[in-house]
Amino acid sequence: MRQAGRYMKEYRALRKKYSFLEMCKNPEIAAQVTLQPVKRFDLDAAIIFSDILIPLEPMGVEFEFAKGEGPVFHHPLREMKEVEKLRTFDPEEEIPFLMKTIRMVREDLEGKAPLIGFAGAPFTLASYIIEGGHSKNYVLTKCMMYRNRPIWDALMGKISEVLIRYLNAQIRSGVQTVQLFDSWAGCLSPADYEEYVLPYSKRIIEGVDRTVPLIHFATSNSTLLELMKGAGGDVIGVDWRVDLGEAWARLGNDVAIQGNLDPVVLFGPVSVIEKEVKRILDRAGGRPGHIFNLGHGILPETPVDHVAALIDIVHQYSSR
Ligand code: CP3
Repeated sequence: MRQAGRYMKEYRALRKKYSFLEMCKNPEIAAQVTLQPVKRFDLDAAIIFSDILIPLEPMGVEFEFAKGEGPVFHHPLREMKEVEKLRTFDPEEEIPFLMKTIRMVREDLEGKAPLIGFAGAPFTLASYIIEGGHSKNYVLTKCMMYRNRPIWDALMGKISEVLIRYLNAQIRSGVQTVQLFDSWAGCLSPADYEEYVLPYSKRIIEGVDRTVPLIHFATSNSTLLELMKGAGGDVIGVDWRVDLGEAWARLGNDVAIQGNLDPVVLFGPVSVIEKEVKRILDRAGGRPGHIFNLGHGILPETPVDHVAALIDIVHQYSSR
Protein backbone atom coordinates (compact mmCIF):
# COMPACT_ATOMS: atom_id res chain seq x y z
CA MET A 1 0.00 0.00 0.00
CA ARG A 2 2.02 2.89 -1.34
CA GLN A 3 5.28 2.05 0.31
CA ALA A 4 7.11 4.70 -1.65
CA GLY A 5 5.06 7.50 -0.22
CA ARG A 6 6.09 10.88 0.88
CA TYR A 7 6.79 9.63 4.41
CA MET A 8 10.39 8.72 3.51
CA LYS A 9 13.01 11.43 3.33
CA GLU A 10 14.78 9.49 0.57
CA TYR A 11 11.62 9.86 -1.55
CA ARG A 12 11.13 13.51 -0.72
CA ALA A 13 14.74 14.28 -1.62
CA LEU A 14 14.30 12.84 -5.13
CA ARG A 15 10.87 14.38 -5.49
CA LYS A 16 12.37 17.86 -5.01
CA LYS A 17 14.17 17.40 -8.32
CA TYR A 18 11.41 15.83 -10.44
CA SER A 19 7.64 15.90 -10.81
CA PHE A 20 5.77 12.73 -9.81
CA LEU A 21 5.07 11.77 -13.44
CA GLU A 22 8.70 12.42 -14.41
CA MET A 23 9.70 9.98 -11.69
CA CYS A 24 7.23 7.35 -12.94
CA LYS A 25 8.50 7.69 -16.50
CA ASN A 26 12.20 7.45 -15.71
CA PRO A 27 13.11 3.76 -15.18
CA GLU A 28 16.29 4.48 -13.20
CA ILE A 29 14.45 6.72 -10.76
CA ALA A 30 11.29 4.59 -10.59
CA ALA A 31 13.41 1.52 -9.87
CA GLN A 32 15.33 3.36 -7.18
CA VAL A 33 12.09 4.57 -5.53
CA THR A 34 10.58 1.06 -5.71
CA LEU A 35 13.59 -0.28 -3.84
CA GLN A 36 13.89 2.48 -1.20
CA PRO A 37 11.43 0.92 1.29
CA VAL A 38 12.65 -2.63 0.62
CA LYS A 39 16.21 -1.58 1.40
CA ARG A 40 15.29 0.40 4.48
CA PHE A 41 12.78 -2.04 6.07
CA ASP A 42 12.46 -5.79 6.44
CA LEU A 43 9.51 -5.96 4.02
CA ASP A 44 8.25 -9.17 2.45
CA ALA A 45 7.35 -7.70 -0.95
CA ALA A 46 7.98 -4.71 -3.20
CA ILE A 47 5.37 -2.80 -5.22
CA ILE A 48 6.41 -1.18 -8.47
CA PHE A 49 6.54 2.61 -8.39
CA SER A 50 3.95 3.86 -10.84
CA ASP A 51 0.33 5.03 -10.67
CA ILE A 52 -3.08 3.69 -11.59
CA LEU A 53 -3.50 6.66 -13.96
CA ILE A 54 -0.45 5.85 -16.13
CA PRO A 55 -2.36 3.85 -18.80
CA LEU A 56 -4.85 6.71 -19.27
CA GLU A 57 -2.39 8.97 -21.08
CA PRO A 58 -1.83 6.59 -24.04
CA MET A 59 -5.61 6.07 -24.15
CA GLY A 60 -5.81 9.77 -24.96
CA VAL A 61 -7.05 11.01 -21.57
CA GLU A 62 -5.20 14.13 -20.46
CA PHE A 63 -4.53 14.82 -16.80
CA GLU A 64 -2.00 16.39 -14.49
CA PHE A 65 -1.10 16.13 -10.83
CA ALA A 66 -1.89 19.62 -9.57
CA LYS A 67 -0.06 20.68 -6.43
CA GLY A 68 -2.07 19.78 -3.33
CA GLU A 69 -5.10 18.70 -5.36
CA GLY A 70 -4.25 15.25 -6.63
CA PRO A 71 -5.05 14.32 -10.23
CA VAL A 72 -6.96 16.86 -12.35
CA PHE A 73 -8.57 16.03 -15.72
CA HIS A 74 -9.28 19.13 -17.75
CA HIS A 75 -11.79 17.50 -20.13
CA PRO A 76 -14.00 15.15 -18.10
CA LEU A 77 -15.68 12.59 -20.37
CA ARG A 78 -19.34 13.15 -21.23
CA GLU A 79 -20.12 11.81 -24.68
CA MET A 80 -20.03 8.63 -26.72
CA LYS A 81 -17.82 10.20 -29.37
CA GLU A 82 -15.21 10.81 -26.69
CA VAL A 83 -15.30 7.13 -25.73
CA GLU A 84 -14.95 6.16 -29.37
CA LYS A 85 -11.82 8.30 -29.62
CA LEU A 86 -10.12 6.51 -26.71
CA ARG A 87 -7.26 4.33 -27.90
CA THR A 88 -6.43 0.76 -27.01
CA PHE A 89 -2.71 0.21 -27.44
CA ASP A 90 0.26 -2.09 -26.99
CA PRO A 91 1.62 -1.35 -23.47
CA GLU A 92 5.09 -2.62 -24.32
CA GLU A 93 5.31 0.04 -27.03
CA GLU A 94 3.52 2.92 -25.33
CA ILE A 95 4.51 2.40 -21.69
CA PRO A 96 8.03 1.02 -22.17
CA PHE A 97 9.35 2.87 -19.11
CA LEU A 98 7.22 0.75 -16.75
CA MET A 99 8.27 -2.52 -18.37
CA LYS A 100 11.92 -1.46 -18.14
CA THR A 101 11.48 -0.47 -14.48
CA ILE A 102 10.01 -3.92 -13.74
CA ARG A 103 12.96 -5.68 -15.40
CA MET A 104 15.46 -3.50 -13.53
CA VAL A 105 13.81 -4.03 -10.15
CA ARG A 106 13.58 -7.79 -10.62
CA GLU A 107 17.28 -7.90 -11.36
CA ASP A 108 18.14 -5.78 -8.36
CA LEU A 109 15.92 -7.75 -5.96
CA GLU A 110 17.66 -11.02 -6.97
CA GLY A 111 14.66 -13.01 -5.74
CA LYS A 112 14.90 -11.59 -2.20
CA ALA A 113 11.31 -10.30 -2.30
CA PRO A 114 8.51 -10.75 -4.82
CA LEU A 115 7.54 -7.79 -6.98
CA ILE A 116 3.90 -6.66 -7.20
CA GLY A 117 2.52 -4.99 -10.32
CA PHE A 118 -0.82 -3.24 -10.33
CA ALA A 119 -3.62 -1.45 -12.14
CA GLY A 120 -6.66 0.57 -11.15
CA ALA A 121 -9.93 -1.30 -11.68
CA PRO A 122 -12.34 0.03 -14.33
CA PHE A 123 -14.80 1.66 -11.91
CA THR A 124 -12.08 3.59 -10.10
CA LEU A 125 -10.47 4.73 -13.37
CA ALA A 126 -13.85 5.62 -14.94
CA SER A 127 -14.67 7.73 -11.87
CA TYR A 128 -11.55 9.86 -12.42
CA ILE A 129 -12.22 10.21 -16.16
CA ILE A 130 -15.86 11.23 -15.63
CA GLU A 131 -15.56 13.34 -12.48
CA GLY A 132 -12.36 15.05 -13.61
CA GLY A 133 -10.59 14.15 -10.37
CA HIS A 134 -11.32 12.82 -6.94
CA SER A 135 -14.97 12.90 -5.93
CA LYS A 136 -16.97 12.86 -2.74
CA ASN A 137 -20.33 11.52 -3.91
CA TYR A 138 -19.56 10.22 -7.42
CA VAL A 139 -22.67 11.94 -8.74
CA LEU A 140 -21.43 12.32 -12.32
CA THR A 141 -20.15 8.74 -12.45
CA LYS A 142 -23.39 7.31 -11.12
CA CYS A 143 -25.44 9.55 -13.44
CA MET A 144 -23.49 8.09 -16.35
CA MET A 145 -24.39 4.58 -15.13
CA TYR A 146 -28.07 5.36 -14.60
CA ARG A 147 -28.77 7.74 -17.48
CA ASN A 148 -26.29 6.86 -20.19
CA ARG A 149 -25.85 3.14 -19.98
CA PRO A 150 -24.49 2.76 -23.54
CA ILE A 151 -21.72 5.31 -22.83
CA TRP A 152 -20.98 3.65 -19.48
CA ASP A 153 -20.72 0.20 -21.04
CA ALA A 154 -18.58 1.43 -23.91
CA LEU A 155 -16.21 3.22 -21.53
CA MET A 156 -15.95 0.31 -19.08
CA GLY A 157 -15.43 -2.10 -21.99
CA LYS A 158 -12.63 -0.03 -23.43
CA ILE A 159 -10.88 0.45 -20.09
CA SER A 160 -11.15 -3.31 -19.45
CA GLU A 161 -9.52 -4.15 -22.77
CA VAL A 162 -6.65 -1.78 -21.99
CA LEU A 163 -6.21 -3.17 -18.47
CA ILE A 164 -6.01 -6.80 -19.59
CA ARG A 165 -3.17 -5.90 -21.96
CA TYR A 166 -1.56 -3.64 -19.36
CA LEU A 167 -1.49 -6.26 -16.59
CA ASN A 168 -0.35 -9.03 -18.93
CA ALA A 169 2.50 -6.81 -20.18
CA GLN A 170 3.60 -6.23 -16.56
CA ILE A 171 3.51 -9.99 -15.96
CA ARG A 172 5.57 -10.65 -19.11
CA SER A 173 8.06 -8.06 -17.88
CA GLY A 174 8.46 -9.90 -14.57
CA VAL A 175 5.98 -8.92 -11.84
CA GLN A 176 5.18 -11.91 -9.65
CA THR A 177 1.76 -10.79 -8.34
CA VAL A 178 -0.74 -8.24 -9.59
CA GLN A 179 -3.09 -6.10 -7.56
CA LEU A 180 -6.29 -4.61 -8.95
CA PHE A 181 -7.13 -1.40 -7.05
CA ASP A 182 -10.87 -0.70 -7.08
CA SER A 183 -10.24 1.97 -4.48
CA TRP A 184 -13.56 3.79 -4.77
CA ALA A 185 -15.98 0.90 -5.53
CA GLY A 186 -17.08 1.01 -1.87
CA CYS A 187 -19.29 4.00 -2.76
CA LEU A 188 -21.63 1.66 -4.65
CA SER A 189 -24.60 -0.31 -3.36
CA PRO A 190 -24.12 -4.06 -3.74
CA ALA A 191 -26.83 -4.09 -6.44
CA ASP A 192 -25.13 -1.35 -8.47
CA TYR A 193 -21.72 -2.99 -8.05
CA GLU A 194 -23.15 -6.24 -9.35
CA GLU A 195 -24.91 -4.66 -12.31
CA TYR A 196 -22.52 -1.97 -13.50
CA VAL A 197 -19.05 -2.97 -12.29
CA LEU A 198 -18.65 -6.65 -11.47
CA PRO A 199 -18.91 -7.89 -15.10
CA TYR A 200 -15.96 -5.70 -16.10
CA SER A 201 -13.74 -6.55 -13.13
CA LYS A 202 -14.54 -10.22 -13.81
CA ARG A 203 -13.65 -9.86 -17.48
CA ILE A 204 -10.26 -8.43 -16.55
CA ILE A 205 -9.50 -11.02 -13.92
CA GLU A 206 -10.40 -13.77 -16.40
CA GLY A 207 -8.26 -12.15 -19.09
CA VAL A 208 -5.12 -11.82 -16.99
CA ASP A 209 -2.43 -14.51 -17.08
CA ARG A 210 -3.11 -16.37 -13.85
CA THR A 211 0.25 -18.02 -13.51
CA VAL A 212 0.71 -15.22 -10.97
CA PRO A 213 -1.69 -14.55 -8.06
CA LEU A 214 -4.10 -11.63 -8.23
CA ILE A 215 -5.09 -9.40 -5.30
CA HIS A 216 -8.50 -7.75 -5.67
CA PHE A 217 -8.75 -4.69 -3.41
CA ALA A 218 -11.28 -2.00 -2.58
CA THR A 219 -11.83 0.31 0.38
CA SER A 220 -15.12 0.35 2.30
CA ASN A 221 -15.91 -2.99 0.70
CA SER A 222 -17.48 -4.78 3.66
CA THR A 223 -20.85 -4.99 1.88
CA LEU A 224 -19.22 -6.09 -1.38
CA LEU A 225 -16.99 -8.94 -0.18
CA GLU A 226 -18.96 -11.85 -1.65
CA LEU A 227 -19.49 -9.99 -4.93
CA MET A 228 -15.80 -9.12 -5.19
CA LYS A 229 -14.94 -12.75 -4.63
CA GLY A 230 -17.42 -13.59 -7.39
CA ALA A 231 -15.61 -11.19 -9.71
CA GLY A 232 -12.42 -13.08 -8.90
CA GLY A 233 -9.02 -12.90 -7.29
CA ASP A 234 -6.82 -15.22 -5.26
CA VAL A 235 -6.68 -12.61 -2.51
CA ILE A 236 -9.36 -10.13 -1.43
CA GLY A 237 -7.97 -6.90 0.03
CA VAL A 238 -9.89 -5.16 2.80
CA ASP A 239 -9.48 -1.89 4.66
CA TRP A 240 -9.88 -1.48 8.44
CA ARG A 241 -13.63 -0.81 8.52
CA VAL A 242 -14.39 -4.52 8.59
CA ASP A 243 -13.45 -7.14 11.17
CA LEU A 244 -10.92 -9.45 9.50
CA GLY A 245 -12.31 -12.60 11.12
CA GLU A 246 -15.86 -11.82 10.03
CA ALA A 247 -14.73 -10.90 6.53
CA TRP A 248 -12.89 -14.18 6.20
CA ALA A 249 -15.79 -16.19 7.58
CA ARG A 250 -17.99 -14.67 4.89
CA LEU A 251 -15.44 -15.14 2.13
CA GLY A 252 -14.59 -18.74 2.99
CA ASN A 253 -11.22 -20.40 3.28
CA ASP A 254 -10.67 -20.88 -0.45
CA VAL A 255 -9.53 -17.28 -0.79
CA ALA A 256 -6.66 -15.44 0.87
CA ILE A 257 -7.11 -12.05 2.52
CA GLN A 258 -5.00 -8.89 2.70
CA GLY A 259 -5.26 -6.24 5.40
CA ASN A 260 -6.36 -4.73 7.62
CA LEU A 261 -4.54 -2.14 9.73
CA ASP A 262 -5.85 1.44 9.74
CA PRO A 263 -2.93 3.52 8.35
CA VAL A 264 -3.60 6.14 11.05
CA VAL A 265 -2.71 3.58 13.76
CA LEU A 266 0.90 4.13 12.63
CA PHE A 267 0.72 7.58 14.22
CA GLY A 268 -0.14 6.08 17.59
CA PRO A 269 2.29 5.05 20.28
CA VAL A 270 4.06 1.75 19.53
CA SER A 271 1.99 0.10 22.28
CA VAL A 272 -1.18 0.83 20.26
CA ILE A 273 0.44 -0.46 17.07
CA GLU A 274 1.36 -3.66 18.91
CA LYS A 275 -2.16 -4.07 20.29
CA GLU A 276 -3.71 -3.61 16.83
CA VAL A 277 -1.28 -6.04 15.17
CA LYS A 278 -2.08 -8.66 17.78
CA ARG A 279 -5.80 -8.11 17.31
CA ILE A 280 -5.59 -8.51 13.53
CA LEU A 281 -3.39 -11.61 13.74
CA ASP A 282 -5.74 -13.02 16.34
CA ARG A 283 -8.69 -12.43 14.01
CA ALA A 284 -6.76 -14.11 11.16
CA GLY A 285 -6.61 -17.03 13.58
CA GLY A 286 -3.61 -18.74 12.01
CA ARG A 287 -5.46 -19.40 8.73
CA PRO A 288 -3.01 -19.80 5.85
CA GLY A 289 -3.09 -16.98 3.31
CA HIS A 290 -3.19 -13.84 5.41
CA ILE A 291 -1.12 -11.00 3.93
CA PHE A 292 -0.62 -8.46 6.70
CA ASN A 293 -0.97 -4.99 5.22
CA LEU A 294 -2.40 -1.56 5.79
CA GLY A 295 -6.03 -1.18 4.78
CA HIS A 296 -5.14 1.74 2.49
CA GLY A 297 -2.20 3.89 1.46
CA ILE A 298 0.37 4.97 4.01
CA LEU A 299 0.00 8.67 4.81
CA PRO A 300 2.77 11.18 4.05
CA GLU A 301 3.20 12.32 7.67
CA THR A 302 3.62 8.78 9.06
CA PRO A 303 6.59 8.48 11.48
CA VAL A 304 9.22 6.34 9.78
CA ASP A 305 10.34 4.65 13.01
CA HIS A 306 6.78 3.49 13.60
CA VAL A 307 6.80 1.79 10.19
CA ALA A 308 9.95 -0.08 11.21
CA ALA A 309 8.34 -0.97 14.56
CA LEU A 310 5.20 -2.26 12.82
CA ILE A 311 7.19 -4.56 10.55
CA ASP A 312 9.16 -5.97 13.49
CA ILE A 313 6.00 -6.55 15.51
CA VAL A 314 4.24 -8.32 12.63
CA HIS A 315 7.22 -10.60 12.10
CA GLN A 316 7.56 -11.27 15.79
CA TYR A 317 3.94 -12.36 16.25
CA SER A 318 3.34 -14.20 12.99
CA SER A 319 4.84 -17.37 11.61
CA ARG A 320 6.67 -16.87 8.33
O1 CP3 B 1 4.36 2.39 -3.11
C1 CP3 B 1 4.33 2.67 -4.30
O2 CP3 B 1 5.23 3.27 -4.85
C2 CP3 B 1 3.16 2.17 -5.05
C3 CP3 B 1 2.84 3.02 -6.16
C4 CP3 B 1 1.46 3.61 -6.15
C5 CP3 B 1 1.21 5.00 -6.25
N1 CP3 B 1 -0.12 5.19 -6.45
C6 CP3 B 1 2.23 6.06 -6.20
C7 CP3 B 1 1.82 7.44 -5.92
C8 CP3 B 1 0.23 2.97 -6.18
C9 CP3 B 1 -0.06 1.49 -5.99
C10 CP3 B 1 -0.75 3.97 -6.39
C11 CP3 B 1 -2.17 3.64 -6.57
C12 CP3 B 1 -3.13 4.74 -6.73
N2 CP3 B 1 -2.99 5.95 -7.33
C13 CP3 B 1 -4.47 4.62 -6.33
C14 CP3 B 1 -5.07 3.38 -5.74
C15 CP3 B 1 -4.67 3.23 -4.32
C16 CP3 B 1 -5.45 4.10 -3.43
O3 CP3 B 1 -4.83 5.01 -2.82
O4 CP3 B 1 -6.63 3.89 -3.30
C17 CP3 B 1 -5.11 5.84 -6.63
C18 CP3 B 1 -6.54 6.18 -6.35
C19 CP3 B 1 -4.15 6.68 -7.27
C20 CP3 B 1 -4.37 8.02 -7.85
C21 CP3 B 1 -3.49 9.00 -7.19
N3 CP3 B 1 -2.13 9.08 -7.36
C22 CP3 B 1 -3.87 10.04 -6.30
C23 CP3 B 1 -5.28 10.29 -5.83
C24 CP3 B 1 -2.70 10.74 -5.96
C25 CP3 B 1 -2.57 12.01 -5.15
C26 CP3 B 1 -2.57 11.68 -3.70
C27 CP3 B 1 -2.29 12.92 -2.85
O5 CP3 B 1 -2.56 12.79 -1.67
O6 CP3 B 1 -1.82 13.94 -3.35
C28 CP3 B 1 -1.62 10.11 -6.58
C29 CP3 B 1 -0.20 10.50 -6.47
C30 CP3 B 1 0.75 9.43 -6.03
N4 CP3 B 1 0.77 8.13 -6.48
C31 CP3 B 1 1.84 9.61 -5.15
C32 CP3 B 1 2.53 8.37 -5.09
C33 CP3 B 1 3.81 8.05 -4.35
C34 CP3 B 1 2.25 10.91 -4.50
C35 CP3 B 1 3.04 11.67 -5.48
C36 CP3 B 1 3.80 12.84 -4.88
O7 CP3 B 1 3.24 13.91 -4.76
O8 CP3 B 1 5.00 12.69 -4.59
